[in-house]
Amino acid sequence: MAVQVISTISEMQSISEKLRLNGKSIGVVPTMGYLHEGHARLIKAAVLENDIVIVTIFVNPLQFAANEDLSSYPRNFKRDIEVVNDMGGTIVFAPSVEEMYPEGFDTTIKTGNISLKFEGVFRPTHFDGVATVVMKLFMATKPHSAYFGQKDYQQVTVLRQLIRDLRIDVFIRVLDTVRETDGLAKSSRNVYLSTVEREKATILSKALTLAIKAALQGERRRDTLNEIMKNELKSFEDIHIDYASAACAETLEEPPLFAPEGEIVFLVAVRLGKTRLIDNMVYRPGTSPEFLL
Ligand code: PAF
Repeated sequence: MAVQVISTISEMQSISEKLRLNGKSIGVVPTMGYLHEGHARLIKAAVLENDIVIVTIFVNPLQFAANEDLSSYPRNFKRDIEVVNDMGGTIVFAPSVEEMYPEGFDTTIKTGNISLKFEGVFRPTHFDGVATVVMKLFMATKPHSAYFGQKDYQQVTVLRQLIRDLRIDVFIRVLDTVRETDGLAKSSRNVYLSTVEREKATILSKALTLAIKAALQGERRRDTLNEIMKNELKSFEDIHIDYASAACAETLEEPPLFAPEGEIVFLVAVRLGKTRLIDNMVYRPGTSPEFLL
């Protein structure tokens, strides 16, 4: 069956309400469109786990600062619909900016400490914008479960905190980052990379892999782990490192020494030419990451 495209909040709300009354489970996959394999996997997982899958497509101005890529953010609505169709999604919710933020809109969610570090240092208004739009998308689609990629690790951490703090009745599912065969994490922004930059961009996953290997060998000193990533990222002069940091996987705290049994997330953000790239990997003691097998 072809996907149904809904563009107004009121229509979306009434459809979701009816679905809920009919006992249907609803999974939502919030996206900004230009769907890639990472999104496709999220939709597929949602289809397996829910009766109805709503994919939201909305490039959210509230999460972009004035100097960021809102106007050039890649879009291809027609192709996105095909992807949702192919993956078995039921509904695409694609509101306009005016629908989401009409004249007089004046309320935003203020995220807390967890949003101030890492991305928050470079994009101070970003997570308030994400939290506000995700909340609005939840209110519109009334999902039981919501699907996000691990690629945006801090985003997921901030959203988990939001769900906890506001007691929002939505189950968060986080799926692994999908990578190109050479390790580059799939991202809609990868289209900005020139051929040379695209080759250099594999350095992110290489740096993360080195840190994971060091952790596997027992390294727990934060500074040493950070240095391992930074040294690798410095292989190319034109890569500007915003951060390369090890943190506690759950809280994003940065103790000087990680506990032997604690999970560690390695987070990197760099600028390569005009493109800003982020990536992360999680070290879980007692498990061997797939790429090392
Ligand atoms: O991860 C994204 O694509 C966006 O931040 C999200 C969650 C759809 C909110 O605009």
